[in-house]
Amino acid sequence: TEPRRLALRGDLLDFIHAPPPDAALDAPPPGVRWRPDHWLLIEDGRIVAVQAEAPDARWPRDERPGRLLLPGFIDTHVHAPQLDVIASYGTELLDWLNRYTFPAEKAWADPAVAAAGSARFLDQLLAHGTTAALVFPTVHKGSVDALFTAAEARGMRLITGKCLMDRHAPEGLRDTVAEAERDSLELIQRWHGRGRNAYAHTVRFAPTSSEAQLDLAGALLAAHPSSYLQTHVAENRAEVDWVRQLFPTARSYLGVYERHGLLGPRSTLAHGIWLDDNDRAALRATGSVIAHSPTSNLFLGSGLFDWRGRAAEGVRLSIASDVGGGVSLSLQRTLAAAYQVAALQGQRLDAFTLLHAATAGNADSLQLGHEIGRLEPGCVADVCCWRWADAGSVLDHRLGRADSLHERLFAWLMLGDERLLEAVWVAGTQST
Ligand code: GUN
Ligand code: ZN
Repeated sequence: TEPRRLALRGDLLDFIHAPPPDAALDAPPPGVRWRPDHWLLIEDGRIVAVQAEAPDARWPRDERPGRLLLPGFIDTHVHAPQLDVIASYGTELLDWLNRYTFPAEKAWADPAVAAAGSARFLDQLLAHGTTAALVFPTVHKGSVDALFTAAEARGMRLITGKCLMDRHAPEGLRDTVAEAERDSLELIQRWHGRGRNAYAHTVRFAPTSSEAQLDLAGALLAAHPSSYLQTHVAENRAEVDWVRQLFPTARSYLGVYERHGLLGPRSTLAHGIWLDDNDRAALRATGSVIAHSPTSNLFLGSGLFDWRGRAAEGVRLSIASDVGGGVSLSLQRTLAAAYQVAALQGQRLDAFTLLHAATAGNADSLQLGHEIGRLEPGCVADVCCWRWADAGSVLDHRLGRADSLHERLFAWLMLGDERLLEAVWVAGTQST
């Protein structure tokens, strides 16, 4: 049978690797692939060629002159049930969890709520140009079925797994070690490696799991080498103090995870603001990833994460919205916040570094660089078409005064958002 073909034409931007930290920005630095007016040839959902010449008549064409074609964004830490509590007023992490978040998550015990919420959540990710994500659902097994089912229906690359929490959470949001083991094994069996779905052992954070449950998570991760682990670490000072009280013999908050075997190259830990030198050495030695969530860190008053400092130390990093602690699913808004958090610490994150992080960098952080995050043959065709600006807008005006690609992209990140998204292809199929 004939392969399913599509040729997309536009201005292609993607990243081979992260640009060097001190690169000159007057021309695209090493690692940046800027291919204006090129064709992306897609066959059966995968990119098979990128070329300047128009393809032959076998290729149906979709031409987007003057538009930016970027790899679909990847969000490495986001909570599906928290769209219900995004932008809730007035509290820091621990109070925010009790007052807003836990009540919202309880509702997902109902499979109908979880199904509707998962569909809404994934539709919103796509509407923000995000085609792949590492997602927190709730403690309920049905929340994982709902998310994977909805992801499969949209062809999206999704990594999630039932939240493990057997203490310090309200009634209706707790499991037990035995239930957690049974549900996790059943869900791994059903979903892990099916289509584009992968399973992540999801320890909410150290305070909500017993030592026995942390042991279970470590055993599950070890027994399933292609699965992932996700959790939170050292986000907020009161949280760090609480962990010290709950685990008096642990070297540190990160040390709790370390001694239960939860660190490694397939582990993504959100935040990591309040870590010491030993913690950073452990992250480096194990290849664990810190997911920087700048809009969340600002909104919840958690602290300022030092991206340049951690990168220079060789800690693996990714970028994430952390909605609903974060206040936008937009990776543009997230990257703009990352710039500002760096600026508050006397650091600079250029537009190439930021866009690399949201695409190839995040793909590599999940060990999926061969599949997503780049526009190159062999990758799945998760592609977004973006307008530079709406006519007559402030961004439009500013772009008229920009004379390098970097200046344009930087303004686009600082001033743009999901309203500039024109089309999304997931595995080569147009979804919006
Ligand atoms: N720590 C434990 N749970 C959460 C959560 O839902 N959001 C954030 N930002 N931090 C957490
Ligand atoms: Zn989070």
